[in-house]
Amino acid sequence: MAELVSQQSSSPVYRAACELAAYRLRDALTDKPFIEYDSSLRTVLLRCLPDEVASIAVCSAVDGSRALLHRDAVSGPGYVLDTATKTSPPWLKRCGLEPGWSRPYTDPDTQSVVISFVAPLVRDGKVVAAVAAGSIPVGARASKKRPAAPAWLSVTEPRLRSRLLYPNPVCLLTTWGEVDGSWRKNVMTISWLTCLNNDADVLLSINARRHSAAAVLSGRAFGLSVPTSDLAAMVLKIGACSGSKTDKLATVEGLAAVEADAEAKAGKGGFAALMSDSSDDDDGVAAPPDAPWFVEGCVARLACVVERRLTEGEDHHVVVAKITDASVREDYWDGKTFRAPHGRAPFLSFLGSQSFGHTVQS
Ligand SMILES: Cc1cc2nc3c(=O)[nH]c(=O)nc-3n(C[C@H](O)[C@H](O)[C@H](O)COP(=O)(O)O)c2cc1C
Repeated sequence: MAELVSQQSSSPVYRAACELAAYRLRDALTDKPFIEYDSSLRTVLLRCLPDEVASIAVCSAVDGSRALLHRDAVSGPGYVLDTATKTSPPWLKRCGLEPGWSRPYTDPDTQSVVISFVAPLVRDGKVVAAVAAGSIPVGARASKKRPAAPAWLSVTEPRLRSRLLYPNPVCLLTTWGEVDGSWRKNVMTISWLTCLNNDADVLLSINARRHSAAAVLSGRAFGLSVPTSDLAAMVLKIGACSGSKTDKLATVEGLAAVEADAEAKAGKGGFAALMSDSSDDDDGVAAPPDAPWFVEGCVARLACVVERRLTEGEDHHVVVAKITDASVREDYWDGKTFRAPHGRAPFLSFLGSQSFGHTVQS
């Protein structure tokens, strides 16, 4: 309800005056069979309005008719009676059977968020009308809308997929790992990786002792997620424990999974059939889901599958994998280059000894 004369007070005196006004008006109307919007109503409204309060209103819950009396801020002292029927005022919509301060509502005239003191007129247990007095600004209500999630773009051309690894960013490699006969999501930090050409081929070096190694070598699809500097602490934690002993998703703070889109599911057959240590069916352990998954909060997602193994029996598995699907956060991609836009967190470059450099565009 518009408080057209600047009445910013939320003092106890002002509040009490609002309450008094509403109670007075309710009592004045309570025995009337219906509300007549004529000059006598103006007199009633005026009589009920204490000096401190600039506006008072009554609205029928039956037909939405209403009268609002407010001080005339334009033409000086005096009051204006407004009986134009608009939509039901917000304070009436939530009016209960007891008088009280309304919930915050946006005043349609001023667009500010306010509360008014509201008293219902109740007949046979139903609110047939309500009166409201005063208007106290309570500040903006928190928006219920969630901030829009960043948009993602699918990178379909292989040569452009390669570009997501041109900066050689530290990545999070995600797999399904087998622990005690069941499949669990696992993730490791990897920095020894680079794209090999513009045909979406990637070279990776994975220590044979990593729990992730068997899953990557199995020929099933795995994921690479590109984190940014704001995730550095999490990246180090992921790289400091093994999925053979730890359920990283349950223990690493901030780590959450994002499932691949249906079209990103890749990696069946092919290399898997050639690998001697691809042992899904050994011991009767059911095959894990074939879709890669990714790490939430990262800015690029690459679904990959190993195509060739370049080492045998050494302490590091050096493998060539193909990026079979990729998507990138729109703000980190200008159509050709993958880079952190000005003001956003950059990619990480591993310097050793738990420290990172940042990759920024010159
Ligand atoms: C910044 C960083 C980069 C790493 N890069 C590699 C890498 O390129 N290859 C590798 O085998 N291990 C790398 N590691 C170590 C693994 O991430 C780490 O041993 C991890 O715990 C393995 O997890 P897993 O046993 O669950 O597979 C890196 C660790 C960190 C912190």
